Amino acid sequence: MTEFSPPAGHCRIRVVDRFEALITTPFADGVNALCWVRDLPGDFASVAARIAEATWGANRRGGESDDGGDDGEGEGILGLDAEFLESLDLDAEGKTAVRVMLEDFRRLREQGLQPELNAIRAYPRDTEAESGEGGVRTDVYSWHADSATTEADTWLCTYSGACSEGLANEEARRVVDFPERRAALLREFGGEDAVDGEEFREFLNENCYDLHYLPLSGAAPYAFGVGHLWRIAVEYPGCPVPPCVHRAPETGPGDAPRLLLIS
Ligand SMILES: [Fe+2]
Repeated sequence: MTEFSPPAGHCRIRVVDRFEALITTPFADGVNALCWVRDLPGDFASVAARIAEATWGANRRGGESDDGGDDGEGEGILGLDAEFLESLDLDAEGKTAVRVMLEDFRRLREQGLQPELNAIRAYPRDTEAESGEGGVRTDVYSWHADSATTEADTWLCTYSGACSEGLANEEARRVVDFPERRAALLREFGGEDAVDGEEFREFLNENCYDLHYLPLSGAAPYAFGVGHLWRIAVEYPGCPVPPCVHRAPETGPGDAPRLLLIS
């Protein structure tokens, strides 16, 4: 497990020491990320390895898959349920890891949330924008805020593999707020005579362009770490704090899948 302490001078993260505090601490005074720091028992890497063998190895069996990646093999994101996890051939440490994951899942369900346990090899990638021809890169590898139409939070924990990353709002700027990028998007929206008004803002919103960020020079992203359970602020009407800017880590084709809880 990795240690976690907020980067020096970072005022938007609050560390808590129990689940109850993670639920009840309000986002206020600019704090938009709560982290329950944990040192989890169990061998999560062995769970990831068994899942990879069972799902993407030569002898495919079990699991429910979802075509979420462009890694050339499909099935970039695999939904994990209790039956599948408990069917894996694991030693005691691996079984402990499965029990921890299912306990977290249950905890969030009891709060009325809709968590998912996933094994992730790759998320869909916004290749059009990456090529430089498209507008704004809108995949989860890009710095972004999550959004909702009503009050909501994002919950996440990486159990194994590369962890999610965060960026302080002070070190980030929305892509659409860079004048050159905005002017280019305005041309894409309505040609040379387009007006930067409500319809244009709706266009940015409908395409999720207004949720994506770029780091400012000198920005120092931080890692969410492994094993810690996070609750982060989402952009919704009336949210009392700015949303937490974050992104998914890059993964390589030969990497074991990341194990993630997300809600
Ligand atoms: Fe996100």
